[in-house]
Amino acid sequence: MNTKSWFPTFIYSAPVLRKGLASLNRELLKECLQIRDYDEAGRRWSAKNYPRGYTSYASLCHLDKMSSTFRELERHIHRHVLRFARHLDMDLRERHTAMTDCWVNIMPPGAVHGLHLHPNSFISGTYYVKTPRGCSGLKFEDPRLSKFMAAPPKRAEARPENRQFVTYPAEAGQVILFESWLRHEVAQSRITQERVSVSFNYHWF
Ligand code: NI
Repeated sequence: MNTKSWFPTFIYSAPVLRKGLASLNRELLKECLQIRDYDEAGRRWSAKNYPRGYTSYASLCHLDKMSSTFRELERHIHRHVLRFARHLDMDLRERHTAMTDCWVNIMPPGAVHGLHLHPNSFISGTYYVKTPRGCSGLKFEDPRLSKFMAAPPKRAEARPENRQFVTYPAEAGQVILFESWLRHEVAQSRITQERVSVSFNYHWF
């Protein structure tokens, strides 16, 4: 091959557990809804910053330290984070890797989450608790998009790895991991049921 691929962008996706997903999600869903009921400050913050939806991002963002169910979820996610970091050839021997933030997102009809990245962490991700049929996926943007200057548009049949966006469907029980600098968004919800997810950041020390 004359042409080789360099500097790839990796995205990890897997079921968080092989068995027991249904009961874990049942318990998580119950707690996510309780958190929204209880978290007045978060509802106020969301009204301004997360229109139509609810997120505990700015109010209750250490849920893995507050609830044994979220702590259990963290234990499962941690294994995937270490596997992903190994795939990225990150040298974490002698290092400690920890979840530093963990929060709930609830997206009712009309809710949208614009393009963003996750500062102050190295691996971020989302775990899906409830994903009604037709709910929006997680859309990632080619991190080099701002550098394409004079590049012609891509062909409609471009190979997946050459496209400028990729959308991972949201599926309950699935965890998606990415490097925290990779910009992503969730398109506006067009269904009547709520989509519930838990997002998180990891850092190394
Ligand atoms: Ni995000």
